[in-house]
Amino acid sequence: MQEKINQILKEIEAYKIETQEELEQFRIKFLAKKGIVADLFDNFKNVAAEQRKEIGQKLNDLKINAQEKLNIYKSTIENSVTSSSETLDLSLPSDFNELGARHPLSIVRNEIISIFSRIGFTVSEGPEIENDWHNFSALNFPEEHPARDMQDTFFIEKSPDVALRTHTSSVQVRVMESTKPPIRTISPGRVFRNEAISARAHCIFHQVEGLYIDKNVSFADLKQTLLYFSKEMFGEKTQIRLRPSYFPFTEPSAEMDISCDICGGAGCNICKYSGWVEILGCGMVDPNVLENCGIDSKTYTGFAFGMGIERITQQKYKTKDLRMYFENDVRFLRQFEQAL
Ligand code: PHE
Repeated sequence: MQEKINQILKEIEAYKIETQEELEQFRIKFLAKKGIVADLFDNFKNVAAEQRKEIGQKLNDLKINAQEKLNIYKSTIENSVTSSSETLDLSLPSDFNELGARHPLSIVRNEIISIFSRIGFTVSEGPEIENDWHNFSALNFPEEHPARDMQDTFFIEKSPDVALRTHTSSVQVRVMESTKPPIRTISPGRVFRNEAISARAHCIFHQVEGLYIDKNVSFADLKQTLLYFSKEMFGEKTQIRLRPSYFPFTEPSAEMDISCDICGGAGCNICKYSGWVEILGCGMVDPNVLENCGIDSKTYTGFAFGMGIERITQQKYKTKDLRMYFENDVRFLRQFEQAL
């Protein structure tokens, strides 16, 4: 018996306990009702009287030994389970919480809205997914006009009538259809064109388009409005020039350049050494468009203009590559933090 106890003592000492399962197996093997220790106690009655004291002592030690080992491993295993599932360390200093900044495109859009709202323009918005009527037909695009071509427009595969809007002129059609003149509104928003992405162009960009319809609205009103806008946006010294152009929805149509405020008109690589930078398209609303939208073209006239927010932002902040506006690299965006 003595020998058996010694052997089991060694076994208990050597027993490897690493997991909850091993701990339980240890308990069952040595300490359960029908375990080794209980078995030894059962056999104790067979021990000769003169050995009882000594063996009884050893047996008790064995039981305590096994019990202690169980308790120690129980608490270590339980602690390691909680510390791996609970990673909350309240003594750890928290990360510095950085404040966000407004995106440069948002800063410029808000500035454009503010400039036009000072002369009575409201803000209108519309859907980014448009039908042919609002994006093209109502705006006097002939059926075969190349701008409808798949190369320029993202159509929804299942229906040629549904497309991502290519300009926010579609919003102006919606306003004309639902509002009686006088109308004085701008429509900022995201637009989509199937174009190769480069430093100067992207397939997603932002526009602000403007519309003014009333009795006796003239080209002089358009020009003066755009001059006011350009001086407010780029500074008092800014000059504008209008070049004849073509849009299906305006007649006459023009493109507007501003004097390059990077070189002050002397010529640089931004203005391609011309001293001028093109920033928007404009014109007098074609009478067909007014009629398409239910406005009497004999009573009312109007002007419209449209500009790309990226182009204006690029000019204002002198960024070379407009892809930076979409990458959202914090090192780039951080430069605008003070403008929040
Ligand atoms: N819709 C034109 C474009 O996206 C811009 C424009 C608007 C031109 C209004 C003239 C008048 O390019």
